[in-house]
Amino acid sequence: MKINVQSSLKTLAAAALVAGAAQFVVVGTSHSHGDVTPQAVDTEGLDELGEDYLEENPYRLVGGEQYDLAIEIGSSGYSQNCARCHGLQAISGGIAPDLRLLEDGVLGDEWYLERVRNGYSQNGAYKMPQFESLLSQEAMWAIRSYIETRPKPE
Ligand code: HEC
Repeated sequence: MKINVQSSLKTLAAAALVAGAAQFVVVGTSHSHGDVTPQAVDTEGLDELGEDYLEENPYRLVGGEQYDLAIEIGSSGYSQNCARCHGLQAISGGIAPDLRLLEDGVLGDEWYLERVRNGYSQNGAYKMPQFESLLSQEAMWAIRSYIETRPKPE
């Protein structure tokens, strides 16, 4: 009997250790967000947009060379910062929503910017990082420009 008590105490202690470790792992994951560090995006050549966030993709509105350049910059910005969750070339593998399905025009722009700036958290853990302090507004709109060139799925 004595032995049994001791061994069940040991089991309890071991369980507590495992629980502690599991908790640690969970916390670690929610902070590190995988192992990919967001990459700064070089937006040289794009019109600077100032401090205030715009409501609509300015590069699409201007069109022409600015839009073409935005798409090019946005393509690499997307690959470096978004593809690991939203899929290569914006084709979702199911981890995160398919961004080709965002609404066109200003409606899609507003929702896009809101999510990219603030990220998305659930039960205190970030499922999508906040890009507010990581990417410039120019980079955010460049990535939006790239996403909107991707044909929508059937
Ligand atoms: C660590 C994974 C991860 C990364 C990296 C990530 N996202 Fe997300 N994103 C998510 C998840 C998960 C959601 C779903 C949140 C929800 O349920 O609304 C989401 C939602 C979104 C939405 C809203 C989509 C919709 O249909 O409502 C947009 C827009 C978006 N992400 C853009 C981006 C962009 C742009 C980048 C890169 C700059 C990015 N995300 C990087 C995980 C990620």
